[in-house]
Amino acid sequence: MAFDKRKPGLGTTADLDRILGGGPLNRLYSARWTLLVLSVGLLWIAIQGDGEIWRAGAILVAVLLATMFLPRRRKVTRLKAKVEARRRAIVPDVSMRKLTAALPDPCFILDRRGIVRFANKAGSSIFGNVKEGDPLSFRIRQPDMLAALDNVLDGGPIEKVEYTLRSHSERFYEAWVTPIHLNSEPDGSERPEFILLLLHDQTEQKNMARMRADFVANASHELRTPLASVIGFIETLQGPAKDDDTARERFLGIMLYQAERMSRLVSDLLSLSRIEMRAHVLPDTRVDVSKILRHVIDSLSPLASDLEVAIEAEDLNEELWVAGDRDELVQVFENLVENALKYGKDGEKVAISYSQIVDPTDSKPYYAFNVKDYGPGISQEHLPRLTERFYRVDVASSREQKGTGLGLAIVKHILTRHRGKLLVESKPGEGATFQVRLPVSISSDL
Ligand SMILES: Nc1ncnc2c1ncn2[C@@H]1O[C@H](COP(=O)(O)OP(=O)(O)OP(=O)(O)O)[C@@H](O)[C@H]1O
Ligand SMILES: [Mg+2]
Repeated sequence: MAFDKRKPGLGTTADLDRILGGGPLNRLYSARWTLLVLSVGLLWIAIQGDGEIWRAGAILVAVLLATMFLPRRRKVTRLKAKVEARRRAIVPDVSMRKLTAALPDPCFILDRRGIVRFANKAGSSIFGNVKEGDPLSFRIRQPDMLAALDNVLDGGPIEKVEYTLRSHSERFYEAWVTPIHLNSEPDGSERPEFILLLLHDQTEQKNMARMRADFVANASHELRTPLASVIGFIETLQGPAKDDDTARERFLGIMLYQAERMSRLVSDLLSLSRIEMRAHVLPDTRVDVSKILRHVIDSLSPLASDLEVAIEAEDLNEELWVAGDRDELVQVFENLVENALKYGKDGEKVAISYSQIVDPTDSKPYYAFNVKDYGPGISQEHLPRLTERFYRVDVASSREQKGTGLGLAIVKHILTRHRGKLLVESKPGEGATFQVRLPVSISSDL
């Protein structure tokens, strides 16, 4: 980074002393002609006036001392003002600091040498505790950001660069480097007194854009595979296997399976987009979750007996009221119990329980419903990604179970709409527990 190429100084009282002309001898030398005229005058008066030469000598010494030690007022005032102006160009004033401190984004005020003169709260922690007086270039490695700072320091206009911060996770920022001219108009020639560096967090938007692109790619891929298989079999039936009855029967069976898979996928996608559209609309009915759980257990009992898994549910006679949409909550519990049956079938048991808790994050009462299986469990690295669309721990086993990988994404969206939460706990080999939290509703809530 190009730091100040001009001569430094004028910031301290020592600088002021230096500029005021150094020591008393220097000042005597500057006043030599005045002093010479004065001495000649005094000598002449002394000779004229009764030989009182000692009095003239005393006056001359007094004048000499005054010249050497009395401050020269006009110059002092002028220089003090200069020092103050220079100081102001290095240290941002209170209003500038207050304004910067009020901004939510990480923000820095740098002087014309690229040294941090102020960092707001978000800013001081972002590069690992930046202090006033530190050159920012020590913390920034990205060449285009350094180049932008350089250009603006050299009098260039405002610059915007993309900045990626790699700490434990990657964060993306839009960095705005703005010159601040206090005493002049920015015309491209004057270097600014200060630079405002503002980092605008773009991580969420980037992730959303990436997810959208991934979603379209995944959805088309998921549809293309069964579609290609159906087309392939139709062509075979029209051609080589035209008159082969056994082959036709077998191929039609596979085509039906693939067509059903596409149909499931399309209905899951529709359900997801429907829920997303209503994400901000709170449910306006109250439902008893006990009833919903009884219904889900009944409807999944054929699958449970097929897979030889027992569903053990806690006594569900108590009424558990929440503000919710019945069909959507059925979908939530159906997904979770079905997953527990399908992926945890080795454990031969699925346990459903509930309790009332106070959530520590918002101190509100919630019903916590646990769906626990005793299967192979899920390893830690997969847990945060389970609710992503099309994310599957084991794609082959999910497909085998007719899964689309959208179930938990739907669950998460429904719970968000219900102001609820989904928590997953699992250790490989010890099964998995999916906990649904829904705010307790009292009759006056709706
Ligand atoms: N109880 C569980 N035990 C082990 N793995 C699980 C469990 N529940 C979910 N998973 C894993 O999480 C993945 C995502 O589950 P999700 O319900 O979103 O999709 P799916 O079951 O594959 O498809 P869908 O629910 O749309 O039919 C599953 O593919 C599976 O790998
Ligand atoms: Mg599922």
